[in-house]
Amino acid sequence: MPNRISGERSAGINIGISDKDRKAVCQELNKLLADSYLLYLKTQNYHWNVEGNMFQSLHVLFEQQYQELTRAIDIIAERIRALGEFAPGSLTAFSKISSIKEESAIPTADEMIHNLVHGNEAVVTTARAIITLADDCEDEVTTDLMIERMQVHEKNAWMLRSFITHNA
Ligand SMILES: [Fe+2]
Repeated sequence: MPNRISGERSAGINIGISDKDRKAVCQELNKLLADSYLLYLKTQNYHWNVEGNMFQSLHVLFEQQYQELTRAIDIIAERIRALGEFAPGSLTAFSKISSIKEESAIPTADEMIHNLVHGNEAVVTTARAIITLADDCEDEVTTDLMIERMQVHEKNAWMLRSFITHNA
């Protein structure tokens, strides 16, 4: 019987990255998966509950962003599996390691925009930290995925920020 805890199932992986490095990268990818999942849930929540004169634009933008996140979440989890580890898959597990927190109240549209700008920037920060580790481990596939995620979330943050006008 393979021992899931010790990771014996991954003993056969031979892709030029040491077991130690694969585990270290996966530990950080778990955080990106958790951040992405919490951001996905928050964005979908806002898609449902946004109100006000920006309703139509925000409802559509939030939908585009959470739909992109569903694809990304799958790719990040499958990268963890390809590196030989099990991916976390519960809100309990995600909440423990995510830098993005859930909220119970319904924010105003302006607060939603601010919260999502910060959420997208949090994902960028997590991905940027993983690049340093992945580079050290010569894990270019993970680095490539981090660059893609940073591009998406930096663009998301810009689009959200564009709803905030500065009429000083
Ligand atoms: Fe919808």
